Amino acid sequence: MAVFALNRRETLKPGVYPFNPYKHLRQVAELVGAVFAADLDAESRGALREVRTIGWLSPVLGRLLSATFLGEFVSGFVWIENGRVLGNLTLQQYDLSGTRWRISNVAVAPEHRGRGIGRSLMLAGLSEIAQRGGSWALLQVRTDNLPARRLYQSLGFTDVCQDGLWRLPVRPINPPQPEIALQRLSALDWQPRFDLAQAAQTQSASWVSPVTPDAYRIGLWQAWADLIADRLGLYRIQRWGVPAKSAWPSPKSAGRLDGLIEVRAHAFGEAHRLRLAVRPQARGQLERALLNQGLCALAEAPSAAVVIEHSGDHAEAVAALEWAGFRPQRMLLTMRRPITPADALL
Ligand SMILES: CC(C)(COP(=O)(O)OP(=O)(O)OC[C@H]1O[C@@H](n2cnc3c(N)ncnc32)[C@H](O)[C@@H]1OP(=O)(O)O)[C@@H](O)C(=O)NCCC(=O)NCCS
Repeated sequence: MAVFALNRRETLKPGVYPFNPYKHLRQVAELVGAVFAADLDAESRGALREVRTIGWLSPVLGRLLSATFLGEFVSGFVWIENGRVLGNLTLQQYDLSGTRWRISNVAVAPEHRGRGIGRSLMLAGLSEIAQRGGSWALLQVRTDNLPARRLYQSLGFTDVCQDGLWRLPVRPINPPQPEIALQRLSALDWQPRFDLAQAAQTQSASWVSPVTPDAYRIGLWQAWADLIADRLGLYRIQRWGVPAKSAWPSPKSAGRLDGLIEVRAHAFGEAHRLRLAVRPQARGQLERALLNQGLCALAEAPSAAVVIEHSGDHAEAVAALEWAGFRPQRMLLTMRRPITPADALL
């Protein structure tokens, strides 16, 4: 291990160092927190505060503490000048086999951008993935982050898929009724919803993170918990589906849906959440009706924002969301690059 680290250090460009949590954690957390301040939600800000605290403590409590609590900050590269961390890149194994690696937290201090630091860190990261036998590097970047996208494109990354977080500032008071008949779905009948989600996902999006049954399967305990939360007025989950045309009028027996809207209405001002899926063959025909149904279901809920995470690759859904008044809050593009053995020499 020590020999490997020594060899690795010799091949790195001056300024680039392997990330060492014991030495760099606090400065990296500060840099990442400052550079991505506008993008962090409350949960991420909290997590970063914890990492900073661990960073302060780690010289005192030693490596064990850092290694135990670091999570995603454990591996990567930093750019250092005069003892100051000016740039960072984090590397994480994305799958158990070590085939795919995720690059994240690519950040350079504002006053040092444009000097080649970002590119040097990326080359070190790609080389590291090759040396560890990985076949793919993948990352996520905001679609409006042109400097970062240019950097990644110039290194051979290509677009895979887009994910958007859409937001309606406040739920509408009188949304239009859906113009087609929708069927109320039971919580326990999860298989048709899972099948639809699989069918609706593009191949590229499925390469990045396939839909899993666990995201849809609801056991008896969960169904009870949801029912109790409903009765106590904490939250209410409702689902409607459009039976697949071939199965009409008995979707249950055929077990197929063409469209789905799921509504999670919250009490106490938390944003209400929607989930929308449409089978590729039915695209363009159902999105507005499903959204209308979702918004109608919120008519009695407390006045709050409505959010929905949805793939930007589903153009008809994007059009329907815009029509209903939703605005993109964050559009993330996933990019990937194949890794070859030659990358080990970068
Ligand atoms: C993106 C970022 C890491 C680039 O770091 P950097 O050290 O400034 O980049 P480099 O000097 O190595 O430039 C590498 C390439 O990036 C692109 N680039 C960098 N700054 C750019 C700018 N202002 N406009 C357009 N392209 C730019 C260019 O393709 C450049 O290559 P070139 O110099 O041959 O044209 C840096 O701007 C940053 O920290 N941004 C804020 C955080 C962030 O957005 N991180 C990415 C999250 S996915």
